[in-house]
Amino acid sequence: MPTTLHSPLDMHLHLRDGEMLKRVAPLSAYTFSGALVMPNLVPPVTSKEEILEYRSRIIKAIGNENFVPYMTLFFQPTYTREFLESVQDEITAIKLYPAGITTNSEGGVSGFEIGALRPTLEAMSELGIPLCIHGETNGFVMDREAEFVPIYESLALHFPKLKIIMEHITTKESVAALDRFENLYATITLHHLMITLDDVAGGMLQPHLFCKPIAKRPEDREALLRVALAAHPKVMFGSDSAPHPREAKECPGCAAGVFTAPIALQMLVELFESNGAPIENLQKFISDNARKIYQLTPVKKEVVLQKSPFVVPEIYDGVVPFHAKTTLQYTIHTVI
Ligand code: DOR
Ligand code: ZN
Repeated sequence: MPTTLHSPLDMHLHLRDGEMLKRVAPLSAYTFSGALVMPNLVPPVTSKEEILEYRSRIIKAIGNENFVPYMTLFFQPTYTREFLESVQDEITAIKLYPAGITTNSEGGVSGFEIGALRPTLEAMSELGIPLCIHGETNGFVMDREAEFVPIYESLALHFPKLKIIMEHITTKESVAALDRFENLYATITLHHLMITLDDVAGGMLQPHLFCKPIAKRPEDREALLRVALAAHPKVMFGSDSAPHPREAKECPGCAAGVFTAPIALQMLVELFESNGAPIENLQKFISDNARKIYQLTPVKKEVVLQKSPFVVPEIYDGVVPFHAKTTLQYTIHTVI
């Protein structure tokens, strides 16, 4: 029986710019109705002109595909209410990075004293602009996300009307925080549902599985799987698909990021099926929950997946995908 997914959404995607944008944007635009596009370019997207220009470059790169890039702004504590009002119609969310925590995040926030962030966060809260956060401290790498949970909680408490999305959660602590605060939500990636640190570094080092936040313990992966497979209403799929050229991955100083965009739907169908979760739950995880949380009406797209073997290409135009050269059970049959 073929499986149909309606208007899939990727609520955390790195499309990059320039040549890389041209290579990867059509791959997401083929199977997804839309994606929340991350602003960590060099320089980061911080003005209305930059948003508008970046969006036109994305639209140009996707060609004729029916796909909406939902734009984000790179958080700065200096954004005023007037500025936010002037960009509100062009953005879907604002993304906050702690300074230096991941790729191109040097211009991020270096402290989380509520006082310093209050004017911008209060304005966002009043205007209804969601706040997406890369939640890691600069502590020991395995503890960074769990250490960030009290910061999430303090933000959730101080700004109860602000929708806060804990991006690409990887720990059982973040999963638990979801149910403690009404205004905390989360995205979960495909790779964090599938791998632990063992897959990255337990045997020969696997650069194509190296990402931030680093994959954690089996019990963390199980906690993520539990809420994703059950389609917990506060979790959404966000691939965090983060393409880097092969030479930037297979080298000393390997860049962080896993490239999953072209195979995400095929693998998610297999993952839900092999865990005995109903396809309706995947529909919620891949689209319906995000529509409700972000109040989106995505463009109509039906992706029909068929159970027939699909060999993941070794490389997509210079970028090595997750599970390269392995055989998946599902293939994209048609996209209407
Ligand atoms: O592994 C990652 N790569 N994590 C991020 O948060 C950013 C991303 C990138 O932009 O390469
Ligand atoms: Zn990301």
